[in-house]
Amino acid sequence: MINIENLNHHYKNKSQEVLKNINLHIRKGENVVLIGSSGCGKTTLLRSINRLIEPVSGSIHINGENILKMPIKKVVRIRGKIGMIFQNFNLIERDSVLKNTLNGRLRHHSSLNTLFGRFSTQDYEIAKQSLKRVGLEDYENERINNLSGGQKQRVAIARTLSQNPDIILADEPVSSLDPKLMREILELLNNICLEKEITLVTSLHFLELAKKYSSRIIGMRQL
Ligand SMILES: Nc1ncnc2c1ncn2[C@@H]1O[C@H](COP(=O)(O)OP(=O)(O)OP(=O)(O)O)[C@@H](O)[C@H]1O
Ligand SMILES: [Mg+2]
Repeated sequence: MINIENLNHHYKNKSQEVLKNINLHIRKGENVVLIGSSGCGKTTLLRSINRLIEPVSGSIHINGENILKMPIKKVVRIRGKIGMIFQNFNLIERDSVLKNTLNGRLRHHSSLNTLFGRFSTQDYEIAKQSLKRVGLEDYENERINNLSGGQKQRVAIARTLSQNPDIILADEPVSSLDPKLMREILELLNNICLEKEITLVTSLHFLELAKKYSSRIIGMRQL
């Protein structure tokens, strides 16, 4: 599903290469963890997959199409099917749990209605189902800034689910949580991806967690 070939990247202001000749093939429904010390390029690789970073050379085929060579309009369409989860949650703190979850629908179809925040009955249903799946159905109207870290990450997962993704890229999704919550959130993410055959690529710092919550571990090291 994701075929990365001969991928190279260095940032403009630096001569040092961050990604050097990366070759990685990920099958549909696979659960891959990228592991490696800080600065080895995990975020750079994850962000290349949906072209938030333009790698210097190489190719990344998603379902047979090279995302690095597509017109931007098509990239936006493909990004609609790729969910992202971050260490710092990236939620709108002053908005409610439901509103944040509905924002996942914006990625799915950005009609004028959704742009102006007028979501359809179906959008609401999907958002509510997603909240139920992460165990937050009773928190719909709570503001994000009243939630714990673990609850915030659940909302972020629900938002991604509302997008109906084929792929989830999770960049250190549990780094700001305590060890018990780390396991809970990784388990939830894994189970959801298994159920829905979503391809999951996660970056993690801890080998022990990577072993437990992945089907394959990719080790990266700093050049
Ligand atoms: N926007 C940028 N401009 C210039 N250099 C960058 C940029 N982003 C990252 N880098 C550099 O690229 C290298 C890889 O960074 P990256 O964030 O991909 O590492 P990482 O493995 O995700 O690290 P961490 O575990 O700390 O999140 C680092 O040396 C970093 O300083
Ligand atoms: Mg990183």
